Amino acid sequence: MSSPSRPRVFVSRRLFQETLDLIAQHAEMDVFDCSGSPTPEELVARTKKCHGLVAQGTDRIDAAFLDQCPDLRVVCNVAVGYNNIDVAAARERKVVVTNTPDVLNEACAALTWGLILGVTRRLGEGERTLRAGQWKGFQLDFLLGMDLVGKTLGIIGMGRIGQAVAAKAAAFGMRAIYMRSPRRPDEVITGPDGAPYEGTTLEEVLRRSDVVTLHCPLSPETHHLINRESIRLMKPSAYLVNMARGPVVEEASVVAALENGWIAGAALDVYELEPVVHPGLLKFENAFLIPHLGSATRETRTAMCNLAARNLIEVLEGRAPVTPIPGSFIDV
Ligand code: DGY
Repeated sequence: MSSPSRPRVFVSRRLFQETLDLIAQHAEMDVFDCSGSPTPEELVARTKKCHGLVAQGTDRIDAAFLDQCPDLRVVCNVAVGYNNIDVAAARERKVVVTNTPDVLNEACAALTWGLILGVTRRLGEGERTLRAGQWKGFQLDFLLGMDLVGKTLGIIGMGRIGQAVAAKAAAFGMRAIYMRSPRRPDEVITGPDGAPYEGTTLEEVLRRSDVVTLHCPLSPETHHLINRESIRLMKPSAYLVNMARGPVVEEASVVAALENGWIAGAALDVYELEPVVHPGLLKFENAFLIPHLGSATRETRTAMCNLAARNLIEVLEGRAPVTPIPGSFIDV
């Protein structure tokens, strides 16, 4: 039986049962149980009388939404990225915002290496050829790719996930360099062996790397960071990997780069207008394309959901959240 004193929560997508069970112990819960996502109108209608919202990266939480949900005290994103949330607007309205960092570092880093291997060793082309019954047997010069050993990996976005990717570079014989944040020009980031990675400018990373991999958050500064001009700084033999957010890359310029041979290939997990993929990308065998699977392991997604639930419960019960977003309002 529902108790009127318990906080009300809307969960905008079906989560794992253990997470729902956890939330149900602490709150009255309404779960969007349909396939797909709630429309913006459904999101407002289901959240407007709630104290907590468990959201996904595709739910837009802006000032207009928050104004229609006056009782809301906490928004818990089941994602490390939070470009879907206007954090300043939430702060002004005293709404706490949380995300799910750390628990997905290893899954995202491992899949980054999957993308790197996929595009440099032509795994997509190989699988398509085999399934189409077009494989003619072993041939010395069939689907030749690029060795990673001895090459340079350029990391743009050397946060938790970028560093987890860098930590695996030595296992492939690669040297990792990264784009040093203009806000922290003196930072020194060291690898598992204690040796510092080389931090340099965006231009240098693009010019020198054999594989450029993106792990920065999406912000006004990083929107279309990779565009026609910046992609032209890359070597024609280099590969671009995007594990960050789709709009960090201007997809049309990747299409132009593949069309004109400005780069050797691209591997993308995320897209500008998900789930729409620029049709130009689909034409190229050297575009290795997967559907936003960065953190998609059972263990990691469960940990993300449970962390979001813990954040929710902490705030609703008057305690500090475990992982507030930097700059979030915190009322303890
Ligand atoms: C994140 O956590 O930001 C991911 O993109 C969601 O899988």
